[in-house]
Amino acid sequence: MRILVSTAGRHGATATLGQEMALVFAHGCAHVDVRTPDSVLEVDDYDALVIGSAVYGNRWIPMVNDLVARLSDKPHPPVWLFSCGPLHSLDRPVNDTSDAARATAALNAFSHCTFPGKLDVAELSHGEQLVFASSGAAEGDFRDWIRVCNWARDILACLASVDHENRAVR
Ligand SMILES: Cc1cc2nc3c(=O)[nH]c(=O)nc-3n(C[C@H](O)[C@H](O)[C@H](O)COP(=O)(O)O)c2cc1C
Repeated sequence: MRILVSTAGRHGATATLGQEMALVFAHGCAHVDVRTPDSVLEVDDYDALVIGSAVYGNRWIPMVNDLVARLSDKPHPPVWLFSCGPLHSLDRPVNDTSDAARATAALNAFSHCTFPGKLDVAELSHGEQLVFASSGAAEGDFRDWIRVCNWARDILACLASVDHENRAVR
């Protein structure tokens, strides 16, 4: 089984979620490639695509939206999507982006999941610090590795059941 994990962000948190998922997939005996969205050209060889984006100002990273646009007009493997954003509470509906909804529809994605992210004020540009200061968001590391790993395991289970059904049909 071959899985492509493709993520983009600004400060690394989204990439770490993708890397953790890749470890779960590899542990489940999948062959995993991790690539940035702009370097994804062909997807025919994969059994699944996992695409993730950081959320800034309720928008996905443009490079991720571009990948979604490139994939949406051709056949592609099953897709799972995730957003990395909210900083202190999943109750704060800042992550409900139109980009995620659009991508889910365009790629007929199996699911879209939002994971809490991480924010270190010292890493932000001056402009980002100004936005952060007026946002009411909290600084800190809110990444939930158990949720991330469980979601990746659910993807593996889904792919295994499809594979099993295909073998039974053959
Ligand atoms: C300027 C700025 C704007 C942000 N806007 C949002 C937002 O609209 N929604 C959200 O859920 N998180 C928002 N965040 C939080 C980031 O999505 C979070 O820090 C995430 O982990 C960043 O991922 P990255 O390190 O991969 O860039 C914002 C953070 C900053 C600094």
